[in-house]
Amino acid sequence: MPRQGIEMTTLLSLTLNGRRRDDAVPDNMLLVDYLREAAGLTGTKIGCDGGECGACTVLIDDRPRHACLTLAASCQGARVETVETLKKDGRLSAIQRGFHEKLGAQCGFCTPGMIMAAEGLLRANPNPSEAEIRAGMAANICRCTGYVKIIDAVQAAAEELRR
Ligand code: FES
Ligand code: FES
Repeated sequence: MPRQGIEMTTLLSLTLNGRRRDDAVPDNMLLVDYLREAAGLTGTKIGCDGGECGACTVLIDDRPRHACLTLAASCQGARVETVETLKKDGRLSAIQRGFHEKLGAQCGFCTPGMIMAAEGLLRANPNPSEAEIRAGMAANICRCTGYVKIIDAVQAAAEELRR
């Protein structure tokens, strides 16, 4: 449901998953609501809704950000990417394949945010150590996997991307 209390609007122009969009958005609209409600991109999840779990992680200009803590209007001119952008020509991305093959997802609720955090991490550091992966994924919480398989998934993706 869209949040209440809307007064002023901004014409937001951004690049979302590689496509330019212009939308009138309430000044107080959160990016996660813009993505899910206005753009129909429901891959970005709302978990804690307070910056604690990372389920809402997206990339803004290549850097992982919590969409539940970001105002949509603050993304003026930015490149925003959600998990929907990763699959190309029907083929999963290396990180998506890593999560699939290494069983990095169980219930899957945290997975889109995990994958976007990993995507941002590997763009900034294509050859991370295990400690760097753990640090890079520290803002993302999983209640199912125990994290080992998630680390394996990111390592497998990093290896594939370096080939
Ligand atoms: S929903 Fe954004 S950090 Fe939990
Ligand atoms: S797979 Fe269920 S919360 Fe991570």
